[in-house]
Amino acid sequence: MLLSKRAEMFLPDQWPAYFSRAKGCKVWDLDEKEYIDMSIMGIGTNILGFGHPEVDEAVLKSIEAGNMSTFNCAEEVYLAEKLVKLHPWAAMVRFARSGGEANAIAIRIARAATGKFKVAFCGYHGWHDWYLAANLGDKKNLAGHLLPGLEPKGVPAALRDTIYPFTYNCFDELETLVNNNDIGVIKMEVSRNMGPEENFLQKVRNLATKKHIVLIFDECTSGFRQTFGGLHKLYGVEPDMAVFGKALGNGYAITAAIGRREIMEAAQTTFISSTFWTERTGPTAGLKTLEVMERIQSWEQITQTGLDITARWRTLAEKYGLSITTSGLPALTRFTFGSPKALAYKTLITQEMLAKGYLAGTSVYVCTAHTPEVVNGYFEALDPIFGIIRECEEGRDVMSLLKGPVCHGEFKRLN
Ligand SMILES: Cc1ncc(COP(=O)(O)O)c(C=O)c1O
Repeated sequence: MLLSKRAEMFLPDQWPAYFSRAKGCKVWDLDEKEYIDMSIMGIGTNILGFGHPEVDEAVLKSIEAGNMSTFNCAEEVYLAEKLVKLHPWAAMVRFARSGGEANAIAIRIARAATGKFKVAFCGYHGWHDWYLAANLGDKKNLAGHLLPGLEPKGVPAALRDTIYPFTYNCFDELETLVNNNDIGVIKMEVSRNMGPEENFLQKVRNLATKKHIVLIFDECTSGFRQTFGGLHKLYGVEPDMAVFGKALGNGYAITAAIGRREIMEAAQTTFISSTFWTERTGPTAGLKTLEVMERIQSWEQITQTGLDITARWRTLAEKYGLSITTSGLPALTRFTFGSPKALAYKTLITQEMLAKGYLAGTSVYVCTAHTPEVVNGYFEALDPIFGIIRECEEGRDVMSLLKGPVCHGEFKRLN
């Protein structure tokens, strides 16, 4: 159900894939074998670690008191107030339960507000038709270039030419797009693999303002990882709408689209409504997660840990004379080997680390349970594997060391 959790993405034929328990940064498989998660941590949902006691307690209390009723739950109002307080440019909030949904809500509201339907986008924004329509059609709209391998089967051909990709940090590309098409919405991630260069975000903001385009920052993954709220706060550039997901409920389903009043009010001119957006565990988890994050300044902790991990990867690579490139937000750090055998090496790391009790590849979604001891243990385990990779660079056959096929590559992003 989630591409990034498929066993083939990690270790084909050998990845445990299903869990019985999870706590902190530990996961137990169905045979009760324990692993330390130095990989995607639920794909970024759990900045405070799995099963955080305070968040779980708040959720359990809401279940005891009744999770659903004919009335709405007050927690959604409190959470909306908190999100608006953290982002004073915004005035209104819509909640959903997945990131793709919240993005679809934002797109609908933005289109309703401008009366224009064409979208320029950068980054990943979910599985819905409005987005996958980017892969429809011919060379003209970059089919086969964007998210290679993702077929838009089932997406109506009529959506062709409604959405256009642009490359991160390529302002001229976006400006040309905007000049040649009646773009009503710009949707982008603030930063993912690289930071903004040459005032990119501010230039996008200015362009959107000048052309009366609604600018939406998708903060589903970047939110709460480097700041208390959207990453855009760090860069001092305000969007017209922002979308939050992933970490907002520390593993419980709660996502949000926030925006300026004049834009959000367009929601009243269309129809956006769903039963389970009104259940109580999501906003309850969101409120408690934000309370704990604020108290322990989690974004500072995970950023420091991420910087430490990144620096130690580089040191390890130097020790063994390996070429690696690091990228990503500090708390979503990753490296790639500068070698044609990079994917095989990644598979080897996952295979060997799994045998040592770690879920690991070439990226880490950092959480507050990744203590210095945990990180030290991880590097002790990783060191000799870099040594084997050194041998492979000198001629040893990496394929003969793999007990199964090479893992699948991730889908490419335009940022
Ligand atoms: C930036 C961004 N937007 C949207 C999504 C989609 O969220 P979900 O998988 O919860 O639908 C993701 C998920 O990876 C994401 O990273």
